[in-house]
Amino acid sequence: MSSGVKQESVKVVAIDGPAGAGKSTVAAHLARRFGLLNLETGAMYRALALKVSRDGVNPDDASAVTAVTAGTKILLEPTDAGNRVLLDGEDVTALLRAQEVTAVASRVSVHADVRRWMVAEQRALALSAGQGVVMEGRDIGTEVFPDAIVKIFLDASAEMRGERRFEQNPVISLDETVREMKERDARDRSRAESPLRPAGDAIVVDTTGMNLDEVMTRVDDLVRVAFSR
Ligand code: DC
Repeated sequence: MSSGVKQESVKVVAIDGPAGAGKSTVAAHLARRFGLLNLETGAMYRALALKVSRDGVNPDDASAVTAVTAGTKILLEPTDAGNRVLLDGEDVTALLRAQEVTAVASRVSVHADVRRWMVAEQRALALSAGQGVVMEGRDIGTEVFPDAIVKIFLDASAEMRGERRFEQNPVISLDETVREMKERDARDRSRAESPLRPAGDAIVVDTTGMNLDEVMTRVDDLVRVAFSR
């Protein structure tokens, strides 16, 4: 799918990659460093998942989930502490990291019509920003903004990503965290509709053996070069 979106008015830095690769940390850093608005698209899938669960809709039923999108408005309000997420006007930010929401978000995100709706909403959000944007997700470089000025695909081994997630949020054992991580990866990478993969012109940064400083230096360089072109 080609966006056909004209981007003269907004410069987009695309950050994609699997769960736990460090996308949020990198995106927040780049936002501060380059004065960009940070939009976390995963939070939008999570907000939709919350609504689907609340409505008692089966997350695997494509048409039922698509029907939910029709009456839904999800807004991201970037703050210094991350995105505030408004679901039909309600601030649901604090509810979106729950285990159940995470699992349902992965399931609702496989449906083609749901993704089409999300992509349109995400483009509109970015284009209304009126300033440069760093957008983080799974398909930003491939679908949402194929013309982004720089596309960074962050990756790391499942074990490393599991360890990082476990440190941030040790609600289940490390083994279980890694197992869930692999399960979610498999679903995100194998879905028919825009599977998780680097865009052809993305720069893949594998952070497995890198410390945070090294990662930040690398992404800073990539964005600085892109902005100076
Ligand atoms: O980044 P996250 O963990 O908050 O994302 C939650 C889920 O949403 C994840 O399973 C994949 C999906 N997602 C997606 O399919 N496309 C995006 N651009 C962002 C997230």
